[in-house]
Order: sequence, then structure tokens, then C-alpha cells
Amino acid sequence: MPNQLFRVLYVSRNRIAGPLDQLKSEVAGLLATSRINNARVGITGALIVNSGFFAQVLEGPRKAVEEVFEAIQQDGRHGDIQVLLATPIAVRAFPNWAMAYVGQSPRHQDALAWLQTETDFHTGHLVGERLYSIVMDMAYAEEAGDVA
Ligand SMILES: Cc1cc2nc3c(=O)[nH]c(=O)nc-3n(C[C@H](O)[C@H](O)[C@H](O)COP(=O)(O)O)c2cc1C
Repeated sequence: MPNQLFRVLYVSRNRIAGPLDQLKSEVAGLLATSRINNARVGITGALIVNSGFFAQVLEGPRKAVEEVFEAIQQDGRHGDIQVLLATPIAVRAFPNWAMAYVGQSPRHQDALAWLQTETDFHTGHLVGERLYSIVMDMAYAEEAGDVA
């Protein structure tokens, strides 16, 4: 069922080298591209970035999610991609965001530190569930303006 709604959550290692400014401008560019492409094919989701890794939720018609995720996997700006969730869904969790950019506040960056320190990127099902709930909290906190 290519039109079945589908969700993917993955983490990857950030391969963008150079100073923070460069990371910021690369991320701004990829968010702009993502929002245009995703809106066209019906994908919504959220992206988390820190200096070490990316985490991203993609939701939408299964075929569209698979095609965009295929392109994302070819992107040299990251590597070691690990899929934590890949599942059909009944409803979207991020209906309002072609690609939300979340997790930049100090509190949220602290909330993500465990991903590197505790797992050293050896992830599994439990990590997926935990990370998914953190991404959701971040997205909703940011929409509510509660980002301290
Ligand atoms: C961490 C990360 C997340 C990305 N997320 C998306 C996305 O949600 N949608 C998208 O179209 N491209 C995304 N990209 C960019 C794709 O890898 C690719 O550059 C883009 O789809 C090419 O689009 P274009 O053919 O329109 O230039 C992402 C790249 C990275 C590194």
C-alpha cells in the first residue's frame, strides 16, 4: 500500500566539518530544500541537529517517505545511519511541520546528551522509543514557545 502513512526515525553521525557557522549554514540550506521537497510529496517531520549527530522523523505516504529517505541516505553530510523506527501509522504526529527544526535550546541539547554518552551510537528499539518521545516533546515545546 504505497499510500499507507508511514513513519521513519533514524539517527546518523554528522559529517559536516568546520566551524559552527558552517554547520549552521549547511543546516539552513538543507532545511530550506527539505521543506520545499517535503511539502511537494506530503512529508512532514522534525530534524534535530547537534555537532555530533542528526536525528530525524519523516512521516507521510509510504512511497514518498521511502524515496526521500533513499536520497537522504546518499547524502555525504552524514553517515552511519541507523533506523530506529520504521512503521505504518494511523495519524501523523507532526502534521504542521514540513520539517520542524527542534532541539536547539540548551535544555534540549542536555536532554540529548545521553544518546552519545550512554549508547555510543549502539542503538536499539528502546533507544528509538526514548528518542521518539524526546523529539515529540521538543517539537511541541517549541511550537508552544517553551524553549528555555
Ligand atoms: C540530516 C539530513 C536530513 C535531510 N532531510 C531531508 C528531508 O527531509 N527532505 C528532503 O527532501 N531532503 C532532505 N535532506 C537532503 C537530501 O539528502 C538531498 O540533499 C535532497 O533531497 C536533494 O534535493 P534536490 O534534489 O531537490 O536538490 C536531508 C539531508 C540530511 C543530511
